[in-house]
Amino acid sequence: MNPDASTIAAGAPIEVDLSPIAEGQDIKVFWRGKPIYISHRTKKQIDEARAVNVASLPDPQTDEARVKSGHEQWLVVIGICTHLGCIPIAHEGNYDGFFCPCHGSQYDSSGRIRQGPAPLNLPVPPYQFVSDTKIQIG
Ligand code: FES
Repeated sequence: MNPDASTIAAGAPIEVDLSPIAEGQDIKVFWRGKPIYISHRTKKQIDEARAVNVASLPDPQTDEARVKSGHEQWLVVIGICTHLGCIPIAHEGNYDGFFCPCHGSQYDSSGRIRQGPAPLNLPVPPYQFVSDTKIQIG
């Protein structure tokens, strides 16, 4: 039995099938009324995210801490800019990640803030893998 739409809107967990998302693609789903980006990262995006000197970041966090071990190709973030709340655009900007056109914040392929006025990384919502190709958010 699945929760009805009003229950989902109020915050029930949602399941997302990752199998249709090709490498290099992102999808956007909604959880608790918030946009959630799910990115199927390329090896290049993962390598770039892991080559960064973490201490140099405005909001220092390793890529490893932002993804699930064994599922490094999947990035799941809340798509709300930490500056003033616009929705960044995926696969844009200088860091192969996300670009917020409102005031120019640039996030990398780990969703970490790299440039611009946003103070913090894009948050990672609570989620878990329920199978190799399916996650539950919330
Ligand atoms: S709201 Fe994103 S840069 Fe200002």
